[in-house]
Amino acid sequence: MHYDTDSNLHGLKHDPFKALAVPRPIGWVSSVGKDGSRNLAPYSFFNAVADRPPMVMFSSVGRKDSLKNIEETGEFVCSLANWDLRHEMNMSSAAVGRGVDEFALAGLEPAASKLVKAPRVARSPAAFECRHWKTIEMPANEKRPDLSNLVVFGIVVAIYIDDSFVQDGLVNTGAMRPLARLGYMDYAVVTPETMFTLNRPEVAADGKSATVNTREWDGVYR
Ligand SMILES: Cc1cc2nc3c(=O)[nH]c(=O)nc-3n(C[C@H](O)[C@H](O)[C@H](O)COP(=O)(O)O)c2cc1C
Repeated sequence: MHYDTDSNLHGLKHDPFKALAVPRPIGWVSSVGKDGSRNLAPYSFFNAVADRPPMVMFSSVGRKDSLKNIEETGEFVCSLANWDLRHEMNMSSAAVGRGVDEFALAGLEPAASKLVKAPRVARSPAAFECRHWKTIEMPANEKRPDLSNLVVFGIVVAIYIDDSFVQDGLVNTGAMRPLARLGYMDYAVVTPETMFTLNRPEVAADGKSATVNTREWDGVYR
């Protein structure tokens, strides 16, 4: 099959787009409003977009509570959603009213951040503390002008890592068992068994060819 997205006549039971843009990391976004109320919600239109300075983005389909809080206080935290917290992550996506604390709803303890007022999820193995940089409103669908998509960019100003996941100077990502969002109601989980390593190609001195060595990574980025 091959279809154009303007008509979007894919003929399937559900729009396949999100089942194809996979796996997507989940930004588990916590924020506080100017009245101090806490908010927590997962966003899978989420990713790291730069590393110097480290920056992340998430996209809000409509003006949701996370975005409203971030506009009010200029800060947010993205905790890592993992296998152990999958049910809590899911519960925190419930479309409850503004001002309802999804930490409490999902039975989660907040932990104080270092540089921002929004707390992280205490049991999450890692978290990014972010200062709001900019929100960009993306083009709306001509047929659904009511559906706005707003991309929120944040500069990561502090990073929390549970020390028990740091081994030999590296983060043991597989041990954290991070979740990824797929399409429909599907998810995937990163484990040591599903991870693999590839060395970068080394370019020859003449710049015309490249080879990849299959030895264990020597710790040098190329
Ligand atoms: C795994 C997962 C990923 C989600 N990703 C997004 C997303 O990228 N953008 C979005 O607008 N909503 C997304 N949602 C839905 C929001 O979490 C949901 O609308 C939530 O109520 C928003 O909360 P808030 O209004 O407190 O910000 C996702 C839900 C789940 C379970």
